[in-house]
Amino acid sequence: MKTIDDLDVAGRRVFVRADLNVPLAGDEITDDGRIRAAVPTIAKLAERGAKVIVASHLGRPKGAPDPQFSLRPVAARLGELLGKDVAFATDTVGDSAKATVAALADGEVTLLENLRFNAGETAKDDAERGAFADALAAFADAYVGDGFGAVHRKHASVYDLPARLPHAAGGLIATEVGVLKKLTEDVARPYAVVLGGAKVSDKLGVIDHLLGKADRLLIGGGMAYTFLAAQGHEVGKSLLQEDQIPAVKEYLARAEKQGVEFVLPVDVLAAPEFPDLKTKAPAHPVVVPADAIPADLEGLDIGPRTRELFAAKLADAATVFWNGPMGVFEHPDYADGTRAVAQALLDSPAFTVVGGGDSAAAVRILGFDENAFGHISTGGGASLEYLEGKTLPGLAALED
Ligand code: 3PG
Repeated sequence: MKTIDDLDVAGRRVFVRADLNVPLAGDEITDDGRIRAAVPTIAKLAERGAKVIVASHLGRPKGAPDPQFSLRPVAARLGELLGKDVAFATDTVGDSAKATVAALADGEVTLLENLRFNAGETAKDDAERGAFADALAAFADAYVGDGFGAVHRKHASVYDLPARLPHAAGGLIATEVGVLKKLTEDVARPYAVVLGGAKVSDKLGVIDHLLGKADRLLIGGGMAYTFLAAQGHEVGKSLLQEDQIPAVKEYLARAEKQGVEFVLPVDVLAAPEFPDLKTKAPAHPVVVPADAIPADLEGLDIGPRTRELFAAKLADAATVFWNGPMGVFEHPDYADGTRAVAQALLDSPAFTVVGGGDSAAAVRILGFDENAFGHISTGGGASLEYLEGKTLPGLAALED
């Protein structure tokens, strides 16, 4: 894979596919981690005299403009972080984009509107994606892939466009791949993996793969209730994916055979209702045993004994990968589980990798110093699929 140092960029138009898919509350960016992660490559290209055309997706619009998913607020923040104006094109390959790109001087930066406002970006049909990639290719002399969070998507700007231009990997992708490689080759043991988040179905592939690699799997968040149910426990009104119970049972059985330790919650914080995340009104949760959640209660975070148990299971690990919050951390009454895992990672001498959108955002939103972690990945699905051993289209496309 070539790096940007291998590309001749001075005076040339360089298309940078970044992942600027940040959480927004209205126009306000609630976590700018992905923008900050994109800055070094963009700044380096601009310093070397490139005309830099940055592009990204944001959210999941349906192939047409949708103001709630506009990248305009991101252009402003990117400009602040770069310390220079970022011209914003209000479309992807239309008149605004053409004019903005044509006006770029050496060392200047522009951001195109959300690529997913064009149906060609995510089309399953190769020709439709290809046509959009052709239109984007017409803007540029070279391509830099740096949107690690999107490399698992076979999308026009990620997969088809690099085939049309001289290309290289940006610094962020190089760093991310370097770190994740450490987790797949020659991992230092004990290797503990903490998985959380709402849905077990999103994590099946990675659990399947990790059963042959990790020494310990700690399960929290909404997905833990399907595991508890698979063990025959009552989970009340908690999130449950009944159709996944057979798969989960199979994993539990395989783990036992292979000597992989599955660590499930022993207690949870529960309440009759899901909390109000807007008002953040006190939720008054109660602590209940994880193997007997009352029928009228919903589990919303791991409980105090589980926090201690998880911390103990992480204390002597040599490598830790964590993906997914332990509870509804956006509400202060349910943030302690996620906070405890983040703290356990900080307290551990292990090489620690925080993978993914929600857990990475949680670390920052809960006020932790992100530099204290070994690595915070910008990729959620991408880092999981990498660990699953899958071929990621956006990385394959950057190979020479
Ligand atoms: C992410 O948030 O994981 C990436 O930006 C990819 O977004 P997507 O899941 O909507 O493709």
